[in-house]
Amino acid sequence: MATDLEGITRAPGALPVVGHLLPLIRDPLRFLKTLPSYGDLVQIRLGPQTAVVVCRPELVQEVLLHDRTYDKGGPLIERIGNALGDGLAACPHSAHRRQRRTLQPAFSRACLREYAAIMTQQIDTLAVDWGDGQPIDVAEQMYTFASDTIARTLFTAESAGPAIDTVKECLPGIFRGIYQQAVFPPLLNRLPLPSNVRYERARNRAWAEVSKTISSYRQDDESHGDVLSMLLKTRDDAGNGLGDTEIHAQIMTLLVAGIESTAVALTWALHLLCQHPDVQERLRTETAKVLGTRTATWDDLPQLDLARRVITETLRIYPPGWILTRTTATETRLADALIPAETTLIYSPYLIHHDARFNPRPSDFDPDRWLPEQKHVRGAFIPFGGGARKCIGDNYAMTLATLALATIVAQWRLTSVDDQPPHIEPRMTLTPHGVRVRAECLQTVPD
Ligand code: HEM
Repeated sequence: MATDLEGITRAPGALPVVGHLLPLIRDPLRFLKTLPSYGDLVQIRLGPQTAVVVCRPELVQEVLLHDRTYDKGGPLIERIGNALGDGLAACPHSAHRRQRRTLQPAFSRACLREYAAIMTQQIDTLAVDWGDGQPIDVAEQMYTFASDTIARTLFTAESAGPAIDTVKECLPGIFRGIYQQAVFPPLLNRLPLPSNVRYERARNRAWAEVSKTISSYRQDDESHGDVLSMLLKTRDDAGNGLGDTEIHAQIMTLLVAGIESTAVALTWALHLLCQHPDVQERLRTETAKVLGTRTATWDDLPQLDLARRVITETLRIYPPGWILTRTTATETRLADALIPAETTLIYSPYLIHHDARFNPRPSDFDPDRWLPEQKHVRGAFIPFGGGARKCIGDNYAMTLATLALATIVAQWRLTSVDDQPPHIEPRMTLTPHGVRVRAECLQTVPD
């Protein structure tokens, strides 16, 4: 088998010009699962560019823990940077520590507790029209729910209403555009194709509304107890505040990084519970005992153990962030291979989670594998990444998903409408379409 980078096997099947783009677009999950059979590091070709896929947990950890050497980079990150500005998710190592210090306080436990009150309010709006026996499009409902909840955590003021609506409308186009532009050759991205025009339009509309909201917050000079107010108050050691460009980049980053991944996780969790009615029933027994007819709150979390394990197992089987990239800042050695500077590396939580050497019975949905007494291979569960660039919203997402899932299952019995498995659209997240369920109301919920 031919190799371009010394000591690293090249995956077979690359075509001239496009390389491995076809399997990566048509059936990326199947393609990814084949790669570990070629080695611990495997070269693939994205068009003319070579990338190295890291296929062992301990090597992925090495990449994640050495964030100076393995810096943010690669086509997806470049597109995210272009689309949103250099916010926390896309900025290089040189800017990361300062940006992370700025945002970290907004994700403290004390803040999470406050945000949980918004989550509970939003969960109450979730199932208002589920009782009419019509099939529910779960992906759509979870997207609306996650975007409303996360947007209201970022900006709670009345004046932010139009921004929340616009962002909700535009984000799907932005997600799709970022992924397409990362995967397609750069030349295609500069052409006025309808998909490029739609993407630019969505990005510009969301950008303009978020800008207006920042200006109106600056003018009223009030603290609304939300993430935007906190960013506006932040001062560096020299007493300088953040500029609008940076605040804008951070807000857009949190919206884009947070909404779709959380919505997708909840959609998959509900799908899996429909496929496994026994687990759904066990979960209902737990949650009904804790909640009765009310909505779950922050204080219930310690008792919602199975709900949390169901979410954890869902993130293992369908990790929303399924393919992530780094770029080597300098020449470096990984395993036995010498990797030149500016090489793109790929790590895939999906690939690691589905390798039976590291997660036995990888296709089985088994929330009990997350019971405390169970042993796990270190680094073999990485839905939120790791190291300094680990997801800043991991506890937020787990809290939101656990509270929502527990409340839904306590109040509704869900069954799949379709026999077909959902269609998976791999874009920035592993997005399911066609998850339609019927919901039977189990309780009279007080007005
Ligand atoms: C189930 C839901 C979520 C999943 C699976 C997820 C997954 C991830 C992953 C894998 C990374 C690391 C990316 C890398 O290594 O390149 C990441 C980073 C990040 N996530 Fe999340 N995420 C979720 C929810 C959220 C939420 C709710 C927010 C915020 C509201 C958020 C904000 C971010 C940010 C800002 C980063 C960049 C962190 C940094 O570089 O310091 N995520 N996420």
